[in-house]
This record gives sequence, C-alpha cells and structure tokens, in this order.
Amino acid sequence: KKINLAVVGATGMVGRTFLKVLEERDLPIENFYLFASARSAGSKMTFKGKEYTVEELTENSFDRGIDIALFSAGGGTSLKYAPIAASKGCVVVDNSSAWRMDPEVPLVVPEVNPEDIKLNKGIIANPNCSTIQAVVALKPLHEYYTIKRIVYSTYQAVSGAGMGGWTDLEEGLKGNPPKKFPHPIANNCLPHIDVFTENGYTKEEIKMIQETRKILHDSNLKITATTVRVPVFNSHSESINVEFEKPFELNELVDILKKAPGVVVQDDPANNVYPLAANATGRDEVFVGRIRRDESVESGVNLWVVADNIRKGAAANAVQIAELLIKDMQ
Ligand code: A2P
Repeated sequence: KKINLAVVGATGMVGRTFLKVLEERDLPIENFYLFASARSAGSKMTFKGKEYTVEELTENSFDRGIDIALFSAGGGTSLKYAPIAASKGCVVVDNSSAWRMDPEVPLVVPEVNPEDIKLNKGIIANPNCSTIQAVVALKPLHEYYTIKRIVYSTYQAVSGAGMGGWTDLEEGLKGNPPKKFPHPIANNCLPHIDVFTENGYTKEEIKMIQETRKILHDSNLKITATTVRVPVFNSHSESINVEFEKPFELNELVDILKKAPGVVVQDDPANNVYPLAANATGRDEVFVGRIRRDESVESGVNLWVVADNIRKGAAANAVQIAELLIKDMQ
C-alpha cells in the first residue's frame, strides 16, 4: 500500500533533507504534500523528478487523508499543528522539542527503542540531534554493562541551528557580525546552545539528560552535559565518558559496538583513523572511535562519537520511523 505523506517545514534545513532522504530510501508514496510558512507559499521544490508547490500550513492542511506528516518547522508550529494533524488520523513524526517529554508521546530512535512506536497516539517525537547519536552508541553498552553515569561534552555544528546558524558562520568567516548567535561563531566556541535555565544548564544540556533517560527507559541514570557550538558547518562530535556497573574487557566492548545496528567503529589511532565531522556528513550511521578505558574509575570508557546532525540527528531518523510506521500499515 502506498501512503500519503506531508513534509511540514519543507523549505528549512531539515525539511530539504527530508526530501533527499525520502528519495534515497524510496518510500512508497502516493500523494506528496509540502508545507511551510506563508512566506514560502507558492515556491516550487523538486521531488523524484517532479515539481511540487509549497503550500502555507493552515488548520485545514490535513483535511485530505494524509497518513504521515514529518514536521520540522519549530516548536511553536508543532505545538499547534501536530494535534490538529493527529485528530485527522495522521501520524506526526515531530522533529521539534515540543512533544519529546510528554509521557503520552513516544521518543524514538529506531536502532534503540523501535517498540515504543506502537504506543503512539498520533504523535511520535524525534529526539534532539545530540541525543540520537549518543544513544545509538550507548544502548548496546547499557545492555551488556549497565550504565551508571554519563558525562557528555559536545562539539556541535552550526547546521543544528537551521539556516540562520549556517549563515552566521558563512558571513562570520567574511568578517560580518552574527544574527542568529549572541556572539561570533567564526573562530570561536560558544558554550551556549538553546536558552539558559535556572540551574545554570542550557536547555540543550537538559534535553540530552532527560531524553537519554526516556529513550533508554531508565529514569535514574546519572548524566551531566556541556553542549558547545563550534565553527563547523555540519555534523556533531561528542566526547562521551561512561561509567558502568559491571566490569568489561575492552576488546569485547569494541566488538559489541562493531556489531551494533547503525554504528560504524573507526578506531585505528596508529593510522590517524578516528571519526571526523567532515567524513560523517552525508552518512546515516553513527561513527565511534577513540575507544579507551577511563583509568580514573573502576569500570569506565571514553568514546568519540560523530554523526551527521541533519541526517541521523534529524531527517534520516524521522524517515526511519516513518518506514516502520508504513511497515505496520501494510
Ligand atoms: P519558511 O521557509 O516559509 O520560513 P530552518 O530551521 O532551517 O530555519 O527552517 C524552518 C522551517 O520551518 C522552514 O521551512 C520554515 O518555513 C518553517 N516554518 C517556520 N515558521 C512556520 C510557520 N509558522 N508555519 C509553517 N512553517 C513554518
């Protein structure tokens, strides 16, 4: 059975990548609809060699038997329109943070907790980009060794802040002032992603902590995070320090990662082989390297984890969820 699919926020950074990934993975689509704000209404986008007109998103947009809608148009748009779409029988896969922590909404990474998709009541949330790549690497290790504590330190690309972030770096490299970020991002590192909250953490850091717990189904996991925007156009890098309950053999741990779904181990320091943002861009896998024992604790490991934040961190993950939904509809 072919399905009717809509992309909301089609003109954005993630929206455009939705189209690319949907083409590559060849989803069985009957009717295809593109929505964005009034600003883009009437503009044209090409999908599988055919031209489509972008429509303004309105309350009536879902009155035509749309089976699945991929949303990436900001939290406000999702808060308002995802329930409208769901009430018309559409399943929304939402890339914003609006619904992620709602107990009624599953938060899904297909390699990690695909079973949660079944619990949806019309909205499924796509996790934060930094969380997705982390849990793909951590889930198999949690299964074997039981994670006790995680320390996340991120090096995040400007594409994660949408078109505005990309333009700030491009213009900043020419000496022009930033518009999206509070400081220049060219030749700089900003320890500030999303807004600050009362306890001194940014929302991005809190998202990584809470979403990891929800996806791994372990509300007691001890986690701390520092998230940093770096002058890289695309692909997020993360240093992940993990402490386990159980002892491990390093060789065995590496083998577990090598066999893990969606993971590619790149770890040959003698030949300067380790995951790099520049190499991850355009790929849907999560790359893991610099795998070494944390000798300061009884059972701990350090990992360097890199992935394309627009693909696996957003569009590709959402399309993988859509594929599982479609499989269930057959
Ligand atoms: P538009 O291009 O018409 O502004 P990015 O994060 O890369 O900036 O992309 C944001 C996406 O969300 C764009 O496709 C943008 O459309 C869309 N968008 C923003 N606000 C709205 C809105 N109120 N209704 C529908 N789409 C929106």
